[in-house]
Amino acid sequence: AAAPEMIKIEKVGANQNVALIKLNRPKALNALCSQLMTELSSALQTLDADKQIGAIVITGSERAFAAGADIKEMTNNSFSQTFSGSFLSNWTDISKVTKPVIAAVNGFALGGGNELAMMCDIVYAGEKAQFGQPEVNIGTIPGAGGTQRWARTAGKSAAMEICLTGNRVTAQEAKDLGIVSKVYPVEQVVPEAIKLGEKIASQSPLIVQMAKEAVNKAFETTLQEGLHYERRLFHVTFATKDQKEGMTAFAEKRAPNWKSE
Ligand code: CAA
Repeated sequence: AAAPEMIKIEKVGANQNVALIKLNRPKALNALCSQLMTELSSALQTLDADKQIGAIVITGSERAFAAGADIKEMTNNSFSQTFSGSFLSNWTDISKVTKPVIAAVNGFALGGGNELAMMCDIVYAGEKAQFGQPEVNIGTIPGAGGTQRWARTAGKSAAMEICLTGNRVTAQEAKDLGIVSKVYPVEQVVPEAIKLGEKIASQSPLIVQMAKEAVNKAFETTLQEGLHYERRLFHVTFATKDQKEGMTAFAEKRAPNWKSE
């Protein structure tokens, strides 16, 4: 595939086992046009299959994580085009990644930019970050999960307020609403996200994948089904070498040596 033009990909961390994807379309505040989204999906797919990589961090610039879907690109889209082409349905590729994906958000996370952050597993934010769904201001509604993920995470009242007014919330408010897990000074967000990625990447990739799948089940099913699914996956860990290694290493008071088997 041709080298991406709108994102930058680096391997970072002491063991080079964290991938850092930087959205890099500064003139448009990282508006998520179709080329950028295609490059992002393709990078994520490649990194998901890369055995060296244990976690992926997605970031933007200090000014903007991403200011949403590209408004200029879609202004003249017709209904039949968007409907028959299932416009934006490819965005869900991001939530199919099996490895942990961390969003490191500075600046604007608006519309599709916020939806992209919410598709990630963990969101860290800089103090000046701003989150919102401003689609209503331009005669449309969120189309990549905004109404659903705000509602499930922050509850009905907050979701309605965000989606019906287009008002933005601060990093601290987003944290209080459960969208963000930690807030840092601007320049520390990416290093902290990488540190988090390194911590996750130091665990057994196989077991981490199971933990991610189990947590995600909580958003898809009833509590009863989710608890059953979790317990079955817990049982599955006993079929792995890493469970034997982890528990043996604990008893021998040494660090485990994961095999991802
Ligand atoms: N699409 C296309 N271009 C965008 C963009 C977007 N979403 N957001 C910003 N840009 C462009 C601007 O047009 C401008 O380009 P020019 O220099 O060529 O004029 C450049 O980025 C810088 O933006 P501003 O001059 O507007 O910067 P600002 O600091 O004054 O304002 C802002 C920043 C508040 C984020 C403002 O740019 C803004 O409101 N952007 C649009 C936000 C928005 O409505 N997002 C939702 C999009 S719809 C969507 O995402 C649907 C979905 O659910 C997937």
